[in-house]
Amino acid sequence: MTRAAPADVSREGVPDRRYVRTPATAPGPSGPRMLRDFGSIRRSAVEFLLSSRLEYGSVVQFPIPSPPTYLVAEPDAVRRVLVGNARNYDKATLQYRSLSLVVGQGLLVTDGEIWRRQRRMVQPPFHHEAIRAVGDHVAASLNALLERWGDISRGAVIDMNEAMMRVALEVVGASLFGTDLSGDADRLAQATLHALDEVVARSQMPVTPPRWMPSPSRRRLEAALRELDGTVGLMIDRRSAAGPSGADLLDVLIAAAGAGDEPIDRREIRDELVSFMVAGHETVASALMWALWLVAGDAEVAEQLAAEADAVLGDRDATWEDLDRLPVARAVFDETMRLYPPVWLVTRRALADDVLGGRFIPAGSLVIMSPYVVHRDPALWEDPSAFRPQRFLDGSAPPASSHAFWPFGAGPRICVGKDFAYLEGILLLAGLARRVTVARPPGASEPRGVPLVTLRPLGALPMVVRARGR
Ligand code: HEM
Repeated sequence: MTRAAPADVSREGVPDRRYVRTPATAPGPSGPRMLRDFGSIRRSAVEFLLSSRLEYGSVVQFPIPSPPTYLVAEPDAVRRVLVGNARNYDKATLQYRSLSLVVGQGLLVTDGEIWRRQRRMVQPPFHHEAIRAVGDHVAASLNALLERWGDISRGAVIDMNEAMMRVALEVVGASLFGTDLSGDADRLAQATLHALDEVVARSQMPVTPPRWMPSPSRRRLEAALRELDGTVGLMIDRRSAAGPSGADLLDVLIAAAGAGDEPIDRREIRDELVSFMVAGHETVASALMWALWLVAGDAEVAEQLAAEADAVLGDRDATWEDLDRLPVARAVFDETMRLYPPVWLVTRRALADDVLGGRFIPAGSLVIMSPYVVHRDPALWEDPSAFRPQRFLDGSAPPASSHAFWPFGAGPRICVGKDFAYLEGILLLAGLARRVTVARPPGASEPRGVPLVTLRPLGALPMVVRARGR
């Protein structure tokens, strides 16, 4: 569908668009330029988005014939898509279609009335007070981690990628699915990660084979999904037989299956459990890995973090009550998510025409937004690539109302696990700082953030961990 831009919309600086069938309504790279850059786009899509924003402005159109595809990187325009005009945008995009191969019709990917019903249903275990127990799970997991590390009084090289994935899994598994099911949570996480790996690998193929075509990748995906379905089925059966264990997510879902005007079915429980595993495991793990790496590179921040942990916690574990007394740990977590937002890509489809950042966006367009791009915009952030948690303490970061910082999204679809993630991240950082120091191995190079499902260092992340002598 082609449509002229309204007269009041700027078309200044729009380059030759011969390669684009939809009208050009915003500047952007040409087709040949995109083809030339194809290798670097595949190597790091997130860096490509950032360089596009720096080169073409805060609304960029890519030369993709269908759907018209825009990067929207201006905070006010992001706010319009996610908050002010959120009803005009849905999640019918390639990103969420791919995810739904794994999460089915779970909260993460649904829209409209189905989404509203799901969100109402799953919200209670995430309310402020309801997540109190997450603090206890963090302490238990941290203590188990230190026990596994054994004698580190003289320092030991630890793979922080593996360690943080494990801790985040234990916390999300214990908090949402019950400690008694930790064995299943482990299997569930492994099966989920395998299925996601396949989805990501498929999305990176130059040509994705159709769903009906047998292929090794299709077979691997189906095997991972069978494993996933089997594990979730077992979890549901065991909990249904044993009865509620508190008011965790699994209890809430099972209760919803047998009650109310619109009881949910087994498939819906499966889809929600998998959605929460996808949304709540690797995201937190990724933020923690980066946080430890960044702190290890900044002696002053490391000292501030340890001093705060000593003063507030002394010799005890951190709990939910400590949350507001750990501003340095919070600032470290925020500054880490500014530089390496775990969810680096958020996409929407425009249902009707709109204007974003002064540019006409036709109905059906794909709108790409990336907190990574906004968080590194030099017009919004001073010295954007520097790790400076202080900016979140001294008020020099842009105000929350400016939408310059949105690692958890915004508006009605804002992350339902935001408070959970802050609690887990802050208590883990403070808890670790109280007990150990972390250092980068001599000669280690900066890990590269690989933008897959989350933005995280790929492969092992070795760091030197040493018990603090106190
Ligand atoms: C540092 C950690 C986390 C980050 C950065 C993060 C980020 C996000 C973002 C950006 C969205 C919005 C996506 C969109 O609008 O398209 C989102 C949604 C969501 N997140 Fe998180 N998240 C984190 C942790 C968690 C945790 C711990 C849970 C659950 C235990 C969780 C569950 C969800 C769910 C279910 C949604 C979909 C909400 C909806 O559409 O109504 N997240 N998250």
